[in-house]
Amino acid sequence: MSTTPSAPRLVRTRADLAAARAELPGPVAVVMTMGALHAGHAALVAEARRRAASVVVTIFLNPLQFTAGADLARYPRTLDADLELLSGAGGGPAADLVFAPSPDVVYPDGDPGVRVTAGALGEVLEGASRPGHFDGVLTVVAKLMHLVRPDVALFGQKDAQQLLLVRRMVRDLDLGVEVVAVPTERDPDGLALSSRNAHLSPLDREVALVLSRALRAGGAAAPEGASAVRRAARDVLQREPLARVDYLALVDPESLADVPEHFRGPATLAVAAHVGPTRLIDNLPVVVGARR
Ligand code: PAF
Repeated sequence: MSTTPSAPRLVRTRADLAAARAELPGPVAVVMTMGALHAGHAALVAEARRRAASVVVTIFLNPLQFTAGADLARYPRTLDADLELLSGAGGGPAADLVFAPSPDVVYPDGDPGVRVTAGALGEVLEGASRPGHFDGVLTVVAKLMHLVRPDVALFGQKDAQQLLLVRRMVRDLDLGVEVVAVPTERDPDGLALSSRNAHLSPLDREVALVLSRALRAGGAAAPEGASAVRRAARDVLQREPLARVDYLALVDPESLADVPEHFRGPATLAVAAHVGPTRLIDNLPVVVGARR
């Protein structure tokens, strides 16, 4: 496994990907991204390096998963900086191969008529606010798995619902890829790293800290039970009127159903809010009702 700083090989077509993939020693890990890479992605690549002999990173801004055209249009595009980060410059982990196709390479016939459907798990939380989003995510993840043919695929815990759905898709459709979760990377003040943070003004960024603060408050109340978790997190959110909360939910990590009041055990506390024009999400795994 080489970590010497050097630009990873960049391929843009299916044929070039297939030729480059054939030369990679296995096992092969893939980290799928939409670009605008940050330390959260670097953590995924670092974990990929630990688990595989070769690391492929895909950079593809998938139009199929954007429900609002404006959100797609303003998504940051930073390919040169992304390639620099993936070269291992600055001591970060390096990728061996980068697949950065254009939409017509991934969808040669335009929007696909046949898609992967996320089902009921894709209709709650993020899916309730962004109908069709997870069908778009799963369709491109399935396509990229077929194109890259990885042994292992790494996904961030920050997108907990996406991670759950990818796991379910791999199991339900027998895709034969090991899915590995990587914990959320945070700035020292708690803000979860996200490509969307690039849109935050200095004031927005201050406001955005309320998401992680609310999750920490909820997590601290976990020994007291589900109601206490929800109340503690909601109280923090209510003290920041500049954050427009989309949802705050304490859910079962597998079914994403709201946990009942007397529930004890592992749960996910998830939040989504608009801060200025930017929609942010975050979550925290908690153990509800555990003794201190
Ligand atoms: O998490 C993301 O960046 C995207 O949803 C993914 C998995 C790369 C699919 O486009």
